Amino acid sequence: MLNEIDNVGKPLQEFGAKHSATGTTIFTVMSALAHQHNAINLSQGFPDFHIDEQLSFLLGEAARTGHNQYAPMAGLPSLRQAIADNFRKRYGLGIDPDNEITITPGATYAIYTAFTAVLQPGDAAILLEPAYDSYIPNIEMNGAKAIPVALSAPDFKVDWNKVKDAITPKTRAIIINTPHNPTGTIWDKSDWDSLADIVRDTNIVILADEVYEQLVFDGLRHYSVLEHPELRQRSFALYSFGKVFNCTGWKMGYAIAPPAFTDAFRKIHQFVSFCVNTPAQFALASHLPTETATPVNMVMQQKRDHFLSLMQKTPFTIRQPALGSYFQIASYERISDMPDMEFAQWLTKEYGVATIPVSAFYKNKKDDKLIRFCFAKKEETLNEALRRLERLSAKQL
Ligand SMILES: Cc1ncc(COP(=O)(O)O)c(C=O)c1O
Repeated sequence: MLNEIDNVGKPLQEFGAKHSATGTTIFTVMSALAHQHNAINLSQGFPDFHIDEQLSFLLGEAARTGHNQYAPMAGLPSLRQAIADNFRKRYGLGIDPDNEITITPGATYAIYTAFTAVLQPGDAAILLEPAYDSYIPNIEMNGAKAIPVALSAPDFKVDWNKVKDAITPKTRAIIINTPHNPTGTIWDKSDWDSLADIVRDTNIVILADEVYEQLVFDGLRHYSVLEHPELRQRSFALYSFGKVFNCTGWKMGYAIAPPAFTDAFRKIHQFVSFCVNTPAQFALASHLPTETATPVNMVMQQKRDHFLSLMQKTPFTIRQPALGSYFQIASYERISDMPDMEFAQWLTKEYGVATIPVSAFYKNKKDDKLIRFCFAKKEETLNEALRRLERLSAKQL
């Protein structure tokens, strides 16, 4: 009743903001600017090359053979089984496909759903910045407070004392991301141990955004939260097929979590999306068990190495090659003193290469004069982009 009375006289088009990031995302802004100036788009994180032919064939085949109606709420059993088999093969982990895996329309949705399952209004959730830009809005949309903790430049390691100091009795969740967008860093086992020490006597839930788990370079390996028996009991691990099979536009992902967590997750999922694209699930269930000639990490490592060798001919400074993800951060300190947002726009307009200013990954827009390149591109795209950037000259110091 009170609500009806409260709404009387309210303008039709007045909608209260559900979160603080009410502008257009930087990815949309930079992609639009790239389009407008006919620039090469190294801003948004998506590959510009074709997906595996077998995978596109399987998608068409699934639609042709009649798999076009609603899938089961938790996901196709054959896809959940294929994921469980894949984790056993790659990590030696046992995961129950019925009670621990839920297929989602992408990882962003899975992150939102996990937050929604966990957070109540008034709670707090910690994130490490720079961070993927959906985390803060997702926390705030649930009436919770986002608490950013800065990673330490230039190596972007976690300062565990800072994380510990950020925890209060209101803290209910911590979201972490490894391999990390935008810095390309990866966690080692000791990071997980430090996190476990901090949360041990609390009811804090961990969201582990592991969408780039298969994009790790230089013979290193990804440590999953699922490999940490203690943390696994309190974690959602979140994944994206888009990043593994270069099909970001399919928006297909999954969440792995203990049965009670999965149950809470599905209570939200069943009333938001209910289920996920059926032909894509059939295609992925058949494709996942097959081996590709060149694993995706080798393809991306080749691209990273090619990109880095071309970058040497420019005045950009690379402090640390990306160890994972498909992003490389570079400093333009030798080129300009402009704020990073201005620099990225200038570079797009004047040199025809679009990137993302790293300040966009901070709530307070912290500007370290860094931009992010996506190197998940065809060789000719990278060659042309770097041919353009070679024309940049260092400022006279
Ligand atoms: C860290 C991180 N998490 C999640 C996602 C989103 O994955 P999806 O496209 O499956 O929603 C991205 C995509 O760029 C990302 O960089």
